[in-house]
Amino acid sequence: NTIDSLETYRPAYHFTPKKGWMNDPNGLVYLDGEYHLFFQHNPDKTTWGPMHWGHATSTDLVHWEEQEIALFPDSLGTIFSGSAVIDKDNTAGFGANALIAIYTNHSHEIEEQKTGLHQTQSIAYSLDKGKTWTKYEGNPVLPNPGIWDFRDPKVMWHDDSGQWIMTLATKQTITFYGSKNLKEWNRLSEFGEGVGAHGGVWECPDLLPFQTSEGKKWVLLVSINPGGPNTGSATQYFVGDFDGRTFTSSQKEILWMDFGPDNYAGVTFSNTGDRKLLIGWMSNWEYANNVPASTWRSGNTVVRELGLTKEGNAWLLTSTPAKEIDKVSKKEVDPKSVKVENEVDLSSAIATLLNTFDASFKQAKAVDFTVTLSNEDGDVLVFGLEKDKGQYFIDRSKTGDANFSEKFIHRPVAPRLTKNEGLDIRFLLDKNSIELFADGGKTNMSALFFTKKPFTKMTVNTVETSILEDFQVKSVY
Ligand code: FRU
Repeated sequence: NTIDSLETYRPAYHFTPKKGWMNDPNGLVYLDGEYHLFFQHNPDKTTWGPMHWGHATSTDLVHWEEQEIALFPDSLGTIFSGSAVIDKDNTAGFGANALIAIYTNHSHEIEEQKTGLHQTQSIAYSLDKGKTWTKYEGNPVLPNPGIWDFRDPKVMWHDDSGQWIMTLATKQTITFYGSKNLKEWNRLSEFGEGVGAHGGVWECPDLLPFQTSEGKKWVLLVSINPGGPNTGSATQYFVGDFDGRTFTSSQKEILWMDFGPDNYAGVTFSNTGDRKLLIGWMSNWEYANNVPASTWRSGNTVVRELGLTKEGNAWLLTSTPAKEIDKVSKKEVDPKSVKVENEVDLSSAIATLLNTFDASFKQAKAVDFTVTLSNEDGDVLVFGLEKDKGQYFIDRSKTGDANFSEKFIHRPVAPRLTKNEGLDIRFLLDKNSIELFADGGKTNMSALFFTKKPFTKMTVNTVETSILEDFQVKSVY
């Protein structure tokens, strides 16, 4: 494998670092016409190592430009995940509209001493839109109370209680802290015992308010590793209420934001008004360090807009590609109805698009279907609906290098969560990934694959005769 051949895995419209390693998105924030993406970064190696905050910016949420590294390890440790806010009212005293990062310092030295106090929360500020940063001299702002896993602060302003709320991952629960100035924090409450999935450590939480027809509802995102629905890393969510102190939820079921194996540690942007825009890391800790790579490793999901909707009596979170992607996409196939009698060949719609497209269709009455994508190397990627089993699947077992790790699960599945007769499907392809959005984004799956040649053939099969309504394809850029 030459470096060049592995470069072919680099996505066209998903962010990847120019070199080195990346994991979680951090400090997502909108400021003066620019979206900022910081990320867990080891600039010197293509495997996880001393963590920095890398930095990239975008004006359209699709094209990202990598910037200088924002935060470097310091005497308190390396820089783990966290968030960023705009301090409009200068509550911290660093200046009005200061950009403030709240992150975990992880001390590898203390870890060696096994005191369990290796993770603390610190802050840093920037007065020049993220170009240069000053760490607060009073760090850490939240010392470790004796919890081994104590990290990933996600901070938001809570108007009703007039304070900043920090949502923090604490082993297998979430602990909420409150502060007037981002420097002194009070413990408010803890959530998570006896509810949700507990197959692994809880990480990278996010707390989000939604205005609904039934008033305000709150969603708590919690990434968990391992213990996801298709092995390894995944993000679960809880729908409930938050009163400025306590998060409560009567939810009984375990709910997943994305059932695919490759969407982890997703969090949302600050300062985007009512819009909830999320980016996830498109990988899985089970094999993230082993995926085929050359000089860089890992990419992100597309930016997704989250919504909250009712299915029967239950609230479900929806994820769909943020509409910004439509602005940079070009229509290749106008919406049309396609009749499928056993099989239809739709290759002409995608043959020249080099695996960078956004396609969709609907069925007025959902019937079993498979979509098969293939290339000249004989690689085959398949996804579809198995109606009797009530599930969608993606089969990546025959996609190029699919056996670099035993944990690279070949055929992830996801339940269909709606009772609707009809279905809608949207699938985004990039050089090395597929992101599937079904039923208005109630069921999602993101999956990586490692093929060297783009797919040039696409067929759709159904057992019953069926119509694909509104079938369309757009090339992304
Ligand atoms: C999640 C995570 C976080 C941590 C970071 C370290 O993927 O384990 O909990 O802050 O990665 O890189």
